[in-house]
Amino acid sequence: PIERTLSIIKPDAVAKDVIGEIYSRFEQAGLKIIAARMKQLSREEAETFYEVHRDRPFFTALVEFMTSGPVMIQVLEGENAIARNRELMGATNPAEAAPGTIRADFAQSIDANAVHGSDAPETARVEIACFFGDDDIHSR
Ligand code: CMP
Repeated sequence: PIERTLSIIKPDAVAKDVIGEIYSRFEQAGLKIIAARMKQLSREEAETFYEVHRDRPFFTALVEFMTSGPVMIQVLEGENAIARNRELMGATNPAEAAPGTIRADFAQSIDANAVHGSDAPETARVEIACFFGDDDIHSR
């Protein structure tokens, strides 16, 4: 199916100036960028976005990291976009990410792991709505 997924290029990758390289990987994999914005997340925005992880031990560090600098947020659309984006990203822990994946190539640690991607259709819907309205999304 044609799906949409929410992608975030995290502060570490924005600081390394690899937005363009990561966008090329999306486009070459058939994932169209149909919405995008750069944003400095507030603590509240980061906490809301990662609400499902609130009780996890890494939650405070995660929010701290995600607010440490601007992030680049995009909606990707394409065939099996959710799984395809997760393949491009590689494992959450870059030490376990397959060679050639975004996290293997650009990430430093499980916290500073370069990118986020939605994990399921319902999560994608909720995550997209955190940052984009219908008028911001340009399917084509
Ligand atoms: P992300 O896909 O953005 O979703 C939650 C983030 O928490 C995850 O990527 C990691 O960057 C971070 N994180 C830190 N520690 C862990 C952990 N033990 N398990 C999963 N995610 C973790």
